[in-house]
Amino acid sequence: MNQPEPFYITTPIYYVNAKPHLGHAYTTIAADVATRFHKMAGAPSFFLTGTDEHGDKIAEAAETNGCSPKEYADEISALFKNLWPKLAIENDHFIRTTDESHKKVVADILQKIYDNGDIYHAEYEGLYCVGCERFYLERELVDGKCPDHKKEPKRIKESNYFFRMSKYQQWLIDHIEANPDFIRPKQYRNEVLSFLKEPLEDLCISRPKSRLTWGITLPFDEAYVTYVWFDALLNYVSALGYPESDAFNTFWPKAQHIVAKDILKTHAIYWPTMLKAAGIPIYNTLNVHGFWNMGEAKMSKSLGNVASPEGLSQKYGVDAYRFFLMRDMSFGHDSNFSEEAIVKRINYDLANDLGNLFSRVVAMSFKYFDGTVPKPDSSLMEELSLAGEAEKALESVRMEMPLFAFDRALKAIWAFVSRMNKYVDEMAPWDLAKDEAQKPRLETVMYNLLEGLRMVAGLIHPVMPETSAKMLSHLGAGDTPMLLTSFETWGELPPGGSITKTKALFPRIDMKAFEETKKEKSTPVKKELATPIKEEISFDDFMNVDLRVGTVLDAEAVPKANKLLKLSVDLGEGVPRTIVAGIAKSYTPEEVKGTQVVVVANLAPAKIMGVESQGMLLAATKRKHLSLATFQLEGLKPGTPVK
Ligand code: ME8
Repeated sequence: MNQPEPFYITTPIYYVNAKPHLGHAYTTIAADVATRFHKMAGAPSFFLTGTDEHGDKIAEAAETNGCSPKEYADEISALFKNLWPKLAIENDHFIRTTDESHKKVVADILQKIYDNGDIYHAEYEGLYCVGCERFYLERELVDGKCPDHKKEPKRIKESNYFFRMSKYQQWLIDHIEANPDFIRPKQYRNEVLSFLKEPLEDLCISRPKSRLTWGITLPFDEAYVTYVWFDALLNYVSALGYPESDAFNTFWPKAQHIVAKDILKTHAIYWPTMLKAAGIPIYNTLNVHGFWNMGEAKMSKSLGNVASPEGLSQKYGVDAYRFFLMRDMSFGHDSNFSEEAIVKRINYDLANDLGNLFSRVVAMSFKYFDGTVPKPDSSLMEELSLAGEAEKALESVRMEMPLFAFDRALKAIWAFVSRMNKYVDEMAPWDLAKDEAQKPRLETVMYNLLEGLRMVAGLIHPVMPETSAKMLSHLGAGDTPMLLTSFETWGELPPGGSITKTKALFPRIDMKAFEETKKEKSTPVKKELATPIKEEISFDDFMNVDLRVGTVLDAEAVPKANKLLKLSVDLGEGVPRTIVAGIAKSYTPEEVKGTQVVVVANLAPAKIMGVESQGMLLAATKRKHLSLATFQLEGLKPGTPVK
């Protein structure tokens, strides 16, 4: 047999601005399952995951948590890195974009593209969404807002470096059209082709250090850092030791990426054009999956509706958790997460179908053959065979796994499990055992069941490695090499081998008890706020703070202070007050003019950047963005008390 092609698989490198959740676990487990399958097929493989650590988002999260970006990145990156082994994920490498070797590759590739003339410097005015860390075109907005963050982007004008992405538009269309498997499943390929019907803009690939310092300095201009996506995407080649290493030469030509649809555009448009401009061969396939939703919304850290992978896998077992994720989501489509859905999968597919079959067959082997694998009767083999059904399951696995259609592969295996359950009922070994003349038949039936279970154990290995090993060891086949070839010929379980007794592979979960615990859990529990509530004060204490309605008459920037605006605020006192407010990063002077705000009117004056501030405005912060406290009614009289 020919040596299968090398297999290189990557997950997105995850942002370190929040802890890992079920969505991250899904993608990484999917990559692990695919890798284990390709290893079984005999392919040399390399599985890469890691963390994306530069950019605004991380700098902001670090600031909110009161530490440096690097300290923050170290802490969260370790959460990802340490989680994967707990989910039976065996990645070959874990890359961090703060690794020196990665930073060097980014600088080298930027320089190469710059030298080729595909990076230029220009003034740009555009709509920038901080959440996405990118500029938007008007037509990409929904009701004038970022479709992901539901926030109006800010108009920003700055001089920056641009990558001539537009130059590669036609080449990219041709490439996608010539390679039907370049983006899979099809609906995402169509989505990208339809996006490419409109002209592509060039890509802004720098951020001035005056705005952001947490990034990789451009090799050709010290005053800028690299745009985080340009830095992050390059991890897929830097991790292999680009430009020259055995790993790069072996694996890069076969690269496959897995991502969810949120980052389709960056992977299907930015990334191939970057590779083309850098003279690096284009990756093979982009595999795109849908979202895990919780309720009606996408599970995401910004919405806070996330399920902890560690909690669930500890509660239900790692293999059951992996099985649920791979079986319940049809790759490419969205899926709804609920704990009930896990419990159902465990009870029906795992405890009932597979677990019961296994316990029954092992128990019967002890009852009728003292725990020894019986010798089948060759004259009965054809009549009683299950080989055809096992082969069908194997064929489906071989076909579906390379397409990442894990659910379909598992369905095919479970069709075989169901067939075996039926076979037990049809053959009724308990009846055969009553009649000595039926012994050859009983031996053959039991052999076929044990051999069928050995096949199932092999086929589930990529998804449930622990259960697979456990089953094989109970069947006395623990030393079977984990290769597909060990599971493609019927009859390799040696007769005479010893079987060992087993407890249930998957204990059933009591549905009633589960419903009860759920009820308990749904009683709201008071949470400790990130900023704890201060000590209680009396009503009089509060009334000592004099809050008033103020109308902002005028506003201007404070020289050399990029966070401050100097406001002139009317409190109805005849002479407006001067108030210095740290809101310049969230509001332009034009935006605040005319606004009615809440002013702390009896605060002792303070000098800020040489200007006396005669009061303070109330505001709340969301991810470094300030939102001033204002009023629902317009035209309140300046100076009106606020109580
Ligand atoms: O986008 N359902 O990082 P990220 C399914 N750093 N998958 C989900 C999911 C959900 N609800 N939520 C997250 C980034 N994911 C960039 C990537 S790559 C060069 C840079 C998974 O932390 C899914 O794989 O926001 C998605 O694409 C990824 O996490 C986004 O991770």
